Amino acid sequence: MSYYVTTPIYYVNSTPHIGHAYTTIAADILARHFRQRGEETFFLTGVDEHASKVARVAAEQGLAPKEYADRIVSSWQEVPRRLDATNDFFIRTTDDGHKAFVQDFLQRMYDAGDVYQDTYAGLYCVGCEEFKSEAELVDGKCPLHDIEPEWIEEKNWFFRLSAYQERLLALYDERREFVLPGFRYNEARSFIAGGLQDFSISRAGQPWGVSIPWDPNQVAYVWADALVNYLSALTYARPGEDLRERFWPSARHLIGKDIIRFHCVYWPAMLLSAGYDVPHQVFVHGFLLLDERKISKSLGNVVDPLDLIDLYGADAVRFWSARAVSFGQDGSVSIESLHERYERELANDLGNLVSRTTAMISRFLAGDVLVGATDGSPIRALVDGLGGDLAARFDQYDLTGALERIWEVVRGLNRHVETRAPWKLADDVGRRDELERTLYDLADGIRVVAVALASYLPQTSARILEALNCDPRDIEWERVAYGLTPALTGIAPASPLFPRIDAPTTAA
Ligand code: ME8
Ligand code: MG
Repeated sequence: MSYYVTTPIYYVNSTPHIGHAYTTIAADILARHFRQRGEETFFLTGVDEHASKVARVAAEQGLAPKEYADRIVSSWQEVPRRLDATNDFFIRTTDDGHKAFVQDFLQRMYDAGDVYQDTYAGLYCVGCEEFKSEAELVDGKCPLHDIEPEWIEEKNWFFRLSAYQERLLALYDERREFVLPGFRYNEARSFIAGGLQDFSISRAGQPWGVSIPWDPNQVAYVWADALVNYLSALTYARPGEDLRERFWPSARHLIGKDIIRFHCVYWPAMLLSAGYDVPHQVFVHGFLLLDERKISKSLGNVVDPLDLIDLYGADAVRFWSARAVSFGQDGSVSIESLHERYERELANDLGNLVSRTTAMISRFLAGDVLVGATDGSPIRALVDGLGGDLAARFDQYDLTGALERIWEVVRGLNRHVETRAPWKLADDVGRRDELERTLYDLADGIRVVAVALASYLPQTSARILEALNCDPRDIEWERVAYGLTPALTGIAPASPLFPRIDAPTTAA
């Protein structure tokens, strides 16, 4: 089966923050990993433009919404680029291909008899772009955005979500891993079991959006437009090709916990109504918290991912994202923790290991290791089963667990340096063979780590392989195995992978 991974498409009402980079990094790690395993992979990210809040910000700046979006979109495209994300396409919901597809999609729902007109009155949170019930509010405010919702009363087109309760429950019962982690599956399932209310899929009060094909006075509700991106992109990302044949329904949607209901309830029901298969899986991750509060544009406590990349490099930001918080859980982060991990884990654990090993090969063996793999090697034991262990974790989106497992190997290699003390072996001509075997094993162990880390640290992985005179493209997953390093010749001391960086004096 092919592997199609998506991020949410982000609202362009302001510039990106580290919470958005977080999901994009996770999706890229998965996409790169499954490519290493030889899977046919497609990775989609992009932006959600037809929101009321986008129209509002544009008006505040005296711009037409599209003009505003055209100006800000480059800052959203820059994030995946600077993160070294390998997205196969970047969707904008203002793309003609998307808009035409949304119209067709909504028409199919209409033709299926699932759409009717009604008047709706309720409290709308423009932050969530969602109607809220009184019960969801805290002190009259949306707890996610800390703003008071607005009273909206409109004649709209409604989707008969209530008619899909049984089919959704059957889907959930049949596919226990439709939503991961399990506690999110339970949350979504009990929401469905609690009864579903029809929701409005159009807006009458604003002109900004995709017009409703059978009622051009209304535009599609932003979520009825945005969710469809996961399917629409496949129809026009590659002109002349319909990628749906290869990649639908093998979609894995990565989302934050703020948008569970839309992805785990509304979206599968919309797909069933329009006559499409539901996606393979939705993985829900937690929130990054800064000072115990969600990092959020509306709360104003944002960290610009580009600032962090400028200072620490893309690999360090990717590493920290996968490591600082167990993927799937909420977790507090700080710039101090990024700095600390950079020094302790990247510079010391990994960087020094590579520097020392290459320096010792250069110094003690004039750059050439003439022996190869040995049967009883402790490094063979150390990396035995690693590829399978990691793959099983990646299959479960356990990015944090897989990285920890790789770090066990890094620490094991450092222990091997200490216990074998090659500098002592080098003092004794009678132990030359032992010295060579030790250094071969360390070099090969480092190569294994570089291949295993390639999806997390693409730049570092390539630099390590180059330092060992290996081809940086040789990262097929089968190469996460002992003894595949060919003869090592002309090895020179590697320059530091993670140079010292002065700690930022104030939090960014
Ligand atoms: O909801 N921690 O867009 P959005 C972790 N346009 N992840 C975070 C985060 C944080 N503090 N803040 C944001 C929308 N995210 C819709 C989506 S999809 C069809 C339409 C990430 O700009 C996380 O993935 O509000 C979250 O779900 C998403 O950004 C919300 O981005
Ligand atoms: Mg949001």
